[in-house]
Amino acid sequence: MAENYDMAVLGGGPGGYVAALRGRQLGLSVLLVEKEQLGGTCLNRGCIPTKALLSDVEGLQWAIRGAREGLLDRKPVINFNVIMKRKADVVSKLVSNLEKLLTSSGVTLINGSAKILEPGILITDTGRIVRSANIVIATGSRSWIPHIIGADLPGVLTTRQILELEKVPGKLVIIGGGVIGQEFAAIFSSLGSQVTILEALDRILNEVDQEIARRYSSLLSSRGITTEVGVQVKGIERSQTGLKVPYEKGSKEKVATADLILIATGRRPNLEGSGILELGVRLNNGAIEVDQFLQTSVNGVYAVGDVLGRKMLAHVASYHGEIVAENIYGHNRPCEDEVVPGCIFTTPQIAWAGLTEEQAKESGRPFRTSSFSLSSSGKAQAVGEPRGLIKLIEDTGTGRLIGAHFMGPHVSELIGEAALAIRKGLSASDIADTIHPHPTLSEAMREAALGLLDGPIHAASRRKIFTG
Ligand code: NAI
Repeated sequence: MAENYDMAVLGGGPGGYVAALRGRQLGLSVLLVEKEQLGGTCLNRGCIPTKALLSDVEGLQWAIRGAREGLLDRKPVINFNVIMKRKADVVSKLVSNLEKLLTSSGVTLINGSAKILEPGILITDTGRIVRSANIVIATGSRSWIPHIIGADLPGVLTTRQILELEKVPGKLVIIGGGVIGQEFAAIFSSLGSQVTILEALDRILNEVDQEIARRYSSLLSSRGITTEVGVQVKGIERSQTGLKVPYEKGSKEKVATADLILIATGRRPNLEGSGILELGVRLNNGAIEVDQFLQTSVNGVYAVGDVLGRKMLAHVASYHGEIVAENIYGHNRPCEDEVVPGCIFTTPQIAWAGLTEEQAKESGRPFRTSSFSLSSSGKAQAVGEPRGLIKLIEDTGTGRLIGAHFMGPHVSELIGEAALAIRKGLSASDIADTIHPHPTLSEAMREAALGLLDGPIHAASRRKIFTG
């Protein structure tokens, strides 16, 4: 007799494991199959290890500044191995906690791979046949490497490999100026690498509000980060001392030299190995197509997270995971993932929700923006990071907030409030009428909201009006 479950989940990342836990909360019998360590890219090779590194790097930056300003009597010496070991310890502790949480919740775990034989039936790599009326594909995504001659040379890394380095590269070239490129540039420049970012588009951080991306970009050169936009990478070659990347910018031929190269040019859904291609699940642009309940074109087969090719973010995958489990249980809960907060964990951080100013303009609606500079925030000054701003966008037709764009210290912790306001159609006065704690950066959000009313208290008003 084959084992039988209500829900079998392929992939133990933040999409899959959350689906499994929510399924158990609802009383479903759940199998979770994961071929690597539990936790997926986020926990093992993404969000968590990079945030462990960034946290140490922030401490380091503080110490470097402290030495410069006489707070400490000498410049700190970096012990990269200790930083990397702490990162590995954080990951393994969380992986082990996750495994305990899943097993104590009653999720059956298989450490291996499995594929769908037919709807309702899976086979594992050890030949175990499992029946499950509902199957959830949560197989995530992998680094996408564009066709660049020499991209397979030793020393050309993906994020998976750069997280296992044993020494800080003297010169690091990063191909791709998106989110991953910027986070690794922030880490390695602080550790002492000379970083060059090569970006094909005419700006970095293409999905970020242009004003914020421009402000952030202007801070990079002071950190030893060279940014080249609008480039065409011609290939990667060995040089006498390491590697080199010839590229074209405008009509000029240039070369960036490197000890190591990181390719951070985007990610693509993992479609192979789960049996969905053989099953004929409908795809759209290289990703799995689902309906509003996250069911694929095959009855009883669902998909969540990065395999959908939407916003490839852990928190989106986890949201999908909860919804899919509820729908399998019978709740008919539609997926509403339009308002998604985005965060970039650089120094300073960037965070946003809703429409950018460019998207608001494209939409043709009348709107206003209000920006509050963190140089007027007591808290930002107190923590020594006043470079940044809080910008809100209001639809003047409806009076609702439609966008929020932040740059500053730990603004990723603030964006949840903005996402809630946008999702619930709140207005500037809803924010301004709410007492915010002092001294915190959250007051800056209130000040920006006041900017859409009679004006902020602690600064002159910075408001822009677009008539649509
Ligand atoms: P991305 O799409 O954000 O950026 C890739 C960049 O590479 C783009 O700007 C693109 O124009 C550029 N590019 C592509 N081909 C190129 C070439 N041949 N030469 C030069 N530039 C080239 O992708 P990224 O940064 O790899 O991130 C992948 C996914 O992971 C994204 O969906 C991102 O949102 C997610 N992620 C999110 C994080 C967060 O929320 N903090 C952290 C890490 C990843």
